[in-house]
Amino acid sequence: MGALSKNISAVEPSQTLAIDSTAKALRAEGKDVIGFGAGEPDFDTPENVKEAACRAIAQGYTRYTPPAGDIKLREAVAAKCLRDNGLSYSPEQIVISCGAKHALYNAVMVLCNPGDEVVIISPYWVTYPAQVIMAGATPVYVGTGPENGYRLDAARLRKAVTPRTKAIILNSPSNPTGWVASDAELTEIAEIVLERQLYVVADEIYEKIIYPPAAHRSIASLGEDIKERTVVINGVSKSHAMTGWRIGWLAAPPDVAKLSSRLQSHCTSNPTSIAQAAAIEALNGDQGFTAMMTGRFLDRRDYLLRRLNAMPGVSCYVPQGTFYAFPEIAGTGIGSDAFASELLEKALVAVVPGRAFGRDSAIRLSFATSMDNIRNGMDRIERFLKERA
Ligand SMILES: Cc1ncc(COP(=O)(O)O)c(C=O)c1O
Repeated sequence: MGALSKNISAVEPSQTLAIDSTAKALRAEGKDVIGFGAGEPDFDTPENVKEAACRAIAQGYTRYTPPAGDIKLREAVAAKCLRDNGLSYSPEQIVISCGAKHALYNAVMVLCNPGDEVVIISPYWVTYPAQVIMAGATPVYVGTGPENGYRLDAARLRKAVTPRTKAIILNSPSNPTGWVASDAELTEIAEIVLERQLYVVADEIYEKIIYPPAAHRSIASLGEDIKERTVVINGVSKSHAMTGWRIGWLAAPPDVAKLSSRLQSHCTSNPTSIAQAAAIEALNGDQGFTAMMTGRFLDRRDYLLRRLNAMPGVSCYVPQGTFYAFPEIAGTGIGSDAFASELLEKALVAVVPGRAFGRDSAIRLSFATSMDNIRNGMDRIERFLKERA
């Protein structure tokens, strides 16, 4: 009997989802757990979007769509790329998938051959190394740290690139750190990508969750040459509180889009037709919801940061985007796994250990939860730290 797939066996289950399910299990036992693990907005999908889905059902829009997605949705994505990012794509360059995670998977599978290397900026979202390994390629990490605002050092990036490097994964705004790449950093990355003829996979899923003066810029918008080496990943999950609908996309050079569509046609056929109808409304309809939600996240961020930075042994970089804070906890003398499990056990507060993101001296807290929860959670963490001291 042969062994099961080496590539899949080499991947660990998603730790962010694991913490969330432990917290949910404790809650089901009646324990009053405050969860900072959520990777999704705590807002409901806007009404106009839900209504569009109901209309799609009523009108019988319930059959297969083309593998790359409904042409109206691909047109809406192309219009969004032009409007928000100054990027001109034809609908053929856009492939709609079951969430940004699936779009990313398609991109990695299409770009990589076994033995290739993919550079990942650390701290990183847990799924990047997993997908690279599943594609038979090898992740190579370039470290950044809070001491200089997670600034990406171009010299270190250049050193990480070898003749086997195929792509760099760039996530700005970044989960878990909240770093937003500056124009200077984007330019440096683009220079290396063009010089070494690599690809850049630009995961821009948190584009809309950004706090001025920080501003989002797609690396693909730096010029036509870098656009031809960029696969942009985005979706409506975070921007429109639509995580359960599973709609994301990639925008890419025609050959990459074509192969992604081919891959998808044999894996999932297409994302749900009804969710695609909802996503058309999310992109073409009123955008007030996203601005409202981001304003609420900003209030919570400011409060959370004030509290965290006043705690002994804790210091936190001010996230410029996303709804995550990634405080350093090295000053408390505990590693992130032990910190997270002790905190859950003793204080009933769920956070994600930084080790999952490649940084054991930090923990990740999501502020996509109510101000009341944040206040109570901060009180509990403060008490926990005092009692431990
Ligand atoms: C950086 C990053 N990219 C992609 C995704 C996946 O988004 P989706 O729910 O659309 O698959 C997430 C979700 O947590 C994320 O944090």
